[in-house]
Amino acid sequence: MSEFTTIVTSDKDATNPYLPEIGIIKKVVKETAGIKSFQVVLKDEEKMKRFKFKPGQVAQLSVFGAGESTFAISSSPTRPEYFQFSVMMTGENTSALHELLEGDEIGVRAPLGNWFDYEMMKGKNIVFVGGGIGVAPLRSLILFMLDNRSDYGDLKVIYGARTPNDLCFSLDLKDWQRREDIDLILTVDTDFPGWEGKVGFVPVVLGEEDPSPKNTIAITCGPPIMIKFVLHELERIGFGDKQVITTLERRMKCGIGICGRCNIGYKYICVDGPVFTMEELKELPNEM
Ligand SMILES: Cc1cc2nc3c(=O)[nH]c(=O)nc-3n(C[C@H](O)[C@H](O)[C@H](O)COP(=O)(O)OP(=O)(O)OC[C@H]3O[C@@H](n4cnc5c(N)ncnc54)[C@H](O)[C@@H]3O)c2cc1C
Ligand code: FES
Repeated sequence: MSEFTTIVTSDKDATNPYLPEIGIIKKVVKETAGIKSFQVVLKDEEKMKRFKFKPGQVAQLSVFGAGESTFAISSSPTRPEYFQFSVMMTGENTSALHELLEGDEIGVRAPLGNWFDYEMMKGKNIVFVGGGIGVAPLRSLILFMLDNRSDYGDLKVIYGARTPNDLCFSLDLKDWQRREDIDLILTVDTDFPGWEGKVGFVPVVLGEEDPSPKNTIAITCGPPIMIKFVLHELERIGFGDKQVITTLERRMKCGIGICGRCNIGYKYICVDGPVFTMEELKELPNEM
């Protein structure tokens, strides 16, 4: 279990890790037609000051009366004024979340799970490969690395969505396009009037870019079908299993290794993941 797990809930009731902390939505940002980002603070200011997380960790967010779901934290711990979730509307709970406004309260159980091993990545080049809302946990690590820029080598981001209007985090994308210390490649599935980026699926664009595996870590997150082809492509390019990192999405309930809802073989995605190296994934039964 992560060293940070239940840091919030344990203050409140050490015997009941299911009790959420109360969060207040400070700002809602409409990213795309179906995705909104929520900037959240804990209602208890002392707990907010002590709230710590690492890029890659997730939260269980509850809308009272609707339900609880898992979301990656899409902000960076280097910017601690709030923590952010970027939510794609898919069903009941995410629709209820999309109804919420600034000032509304939500339940927060966080931080949960493991994280990207950014210490191990120091001195290395990093290739981020993201698709759709899967870019949310990558954003946390990208901002973290930009805020600790001298610790890392070249940063390359390959990010794709169906159309230009489906790309999240437009302000960040503009910033990364402008900066010289990060290389951003955007792609969309089909051409669009006025679009100046690439056209093609993310794994194909990754193959065209052909990043050198030398002293490089590749991190990918996105729809399962995209991840599958990206992993094949990285292997073809010459990335070793220890150089490839991905996150797994498995439906969760408790989020703390108790209910057995999220396991693949002997691993619980909620505590052993969601972040895995390719080497670790190859040891798991093929249930994905
Ligand atoms: C580790 C992890 C991190 C996640 N991070 C994010 C994130 O940053 N942003 C985000 O928008 N979503 C994220 N998700 C997915 C999110 O948890 C689901 O979309 C959400 O639980 C759906 O709840 P709902 O009640 O709205 O949908 P439901 O009514 O329960 O389901 C609606 C549809 O969504 C599908 N669905 C539900 N849960 C999942 C899931 N876990 N994975 C894939 N499909 C699912 C269902 O099969 C169904 O087709 C993450 C999931 C996990 C496990
Ligand atoms: S969600 Fe309960 S064990 Fe992982």
